[in-house]
Amino acid sequence: MTLPPYSTWLEIDLEAIRSNVRRLAHLSGRPVMTILKANAYGHGLVEVARAVRQAGVPWIGVARVEEAFLLRQGGIAGDILVMGHAAPQQVSQAAQMGLTLTVYNPELAAAFSGQAEAAGLRLRVHAKFDSGMGRLGLPTEEGVDFVRLLHSLPGLTLEGVFTHLAEADDPVQPSVNWQVERFTALVDALASAGLRPPLVHAANSAGTIYFPHARFDMIRPGIAVYGLQPSADAPLPEGFRPALTWKARLASIKMLPPNHGIGYNYRYRTTREERIGVCPTGYADGLRRKVGVNFVLVGGVKVPVVGGMCMDQCMIQLDGVPRAKLGDEIVLIGRQGAAEISAEDIARVWDTTNYDVVCGLTARVPRLYLNT
Ligand SMILES: Cc1ncc(COP(=O)(O)O)c(C=O)c1O
Repeated sequence: MTLPPYSTWLEIDLEAIRSNVRRLAHLSGRPVMTILKANAYGHGLVEVARAVRQAGVPWIGVARVEEAFLLRQGGIAGDILVMGHAAPQQVSQAAQMGLTLTVYNPELAAAFSGQAEAAGLRLRVHAKFDSGMGRLGLPTEEGVDFVRLLHSLPGLTLEGVFTHLAEADDPVQPSVNWQVERFTALVDALASAGLRPPLVHAANSAGTIYFPHARFDMIRPGIAVYGLQPSADAPLPEGFRPALTWKARLASIKMLPPNHGIGYNYRYRTTREERIGVCPTGYADGLRRKVGVNFVLVGGVKVPVVGGMCMDQCMIQLDGVPRAKLGDEIVLIGRQGAAEISAEDIARVWDTTNYDVVCGLTARVPRLYLNT
């Protein structure tokens, strides 16, 4: 098997991404806004954007204006919503680039309108409401007055209203239903006042899959697009595929005598003569400095990381794979033969989420795109 010319790399299967997106569109019957913030959850912003556009996705959502600028610089046309906070100084450039920004209070809306007007432009906006998440957003009860204000501001064009669900990944919780009820009351009030904008959206991946009444006019999935489950309580339906595999080359193999310290501060000591390998990945690539919980796959076998995690390397115990040789493929996330380590497996031992695992994969790890 010929490996690519790197010590470590990510393989991103863009067909898996296209197929996951089509599945979400099909199961919801709605247009999709694919969430590509945080470098497309670590998968690579522009390449994933191209793939989802190929799959027919009309909208892309990001958290920051800088992410949207990168998309435009990368040649990504079409509708892009910046869902998080933007500085008023970013408005004129955003308007020039045809981006849509989020407004969630009257002061910010007035500042955005002023900036757009001063530049002789109109800024496209979606209004964000807090139906119970306690994060960005105006209380839904103030929605009709706010939307009226937005219509009166000459620098803004209101295209949509949205909210975000706090507990959709824990489908037994009642909060999603009352969040949706509150938001629906606002949408109905806007419709009665003749103010309902064309796009109403609320559902993240778990909301889309588990709460059909949260789908409104468009769905807003992130994690499921990458083939990763929203949570153990909200698994993906059959057919979704993880897009990302993390690989490396076995950088060294040595027999070390008993009682030999391994790595900084000797957090592991050999108990007998042991075969110790080096995996050229460390915490600066996105691994965690947790001792005794990390594993990788070598020769189709799950082997333990031993000792502390270095910045660029970690040591692995190869007694279970006597045939392993220098340069062999190591899999850190993904499948090798019949064995698998998923982002969810890693999240469990790091006491975090699969979101955190993939978003933590740092920029220096090369991304290779399959099925482009
Ligand atoms: C406002 C908003 N919408 C949608 C999403 C996508 O969520 P998920 O990745 O759970 O599908 C996120 C992600 O956190 C978000 O912040």
